[in-house]
Amino acid sequence: MTVHFIGAGPGAPDLLTLRGRDIIAACPVCLYAGSLVPQEILQHCPKDAEIINTAAMDLNTIIEACVTATKAGKDVARLHSGDLSVWSAMGEQMRRLRAADVPVSVTPGVPSFAAAAAALGTELTLPGLAQSVVLTRTPGRASSMPEGESLTNFAATGATLAIHLSIQNLDTVVGDLVPSYGADCPVAVVYRASWPDEQIIRATLATIADVVTPEIARTALILVGPALAGEGFDESCLYSTDYDRRYRPQTADSPWASWSEKDEQP
Ligand SMILES: C[S@@+](CC[C@H](N)C(=O)[O-])C[C@H]1O[C@@H](n2cnc3c(N)ncnc32)[C@H](O)[C@@H]1O
Repeated sequence: MTVHFIGAGPGAPDLLTLRGRDIIAACPVCLYAGSLVPQEILQHCPKDAEIINTAAMDLNTIIEACVTATKAGKDVARLHSGDLSVWSAMGEQMRRLRAADVPVSVTPGVPSFAAAAAALGTELTLPGLAQSVVLTRTPGRASSMPEGESLTNFAATGATLAIHLSIQNLDTVVGDLVPSYGADCPVAVVYRASWPDEQIIRATLATIADVVTPEIARTALILVGPALAGEGFDESCLYSTDYDRRYRPQTADSPWASWSEKDEQP
């Protein structure tokens, strides 16, 4: 029997993957992180499933519930918001489950930074403006930051920053970023991306703290960088008319002229 970690997506119930839905439907036990996983997703559980909200549980109790279920011959669906590769606490659960010889599987989910970018209708890597996205956070009560992973260090790269778990530190975020990005740098705060009460606030580093209202105190992403302007960027070569490439050789003596897709088949 297996504990299946499943990324439940950013909030909208239809942003769950088909694989995630099918695994949930096949598991008699479901543990979900109650604060961010939408209730509608639990409708995919079998009718008689045991459904446990882990919001008030500690790690020992969560692992005990998983081990008890699997030893009783039951597969477990373990749901976390967004994707599991960032800030999901999957690593610590997996380490304990492996130590207890419980098999695990991982099904990815739509991460909140992607849902926020979709809400903004923005590509975060615009040619000539930014070609990297840094997924980061500021220190919180439960987590310190490793030395070197400071906002000022990331800001020095000029990349697009997707700052999680930090809306309550907005003033510090602004103070750390202005020296590298400048006060006019565009910023977007996306609150509860893909939920019915989603809110988008666009401003600059100079003005964002004045326009984010106090009720936006959690479940928000701060996106910063020149790409957020959505203008003043170059076109990529990929689709340019005269760009010589594998799928569109420009001349008879192009290195790609004799290439055909079947050449790459095994
Ligand atoms: C514990 S982390 C979970 C991240 C998640 N694993 C992911 O893939 O995005 C929670 C933080 O992610 C961000 N977040 C999660 N869901 C969000 C959403 N729907 N809209 C905006 N930000 C969200 C917020 O910064 C929030 O404080």
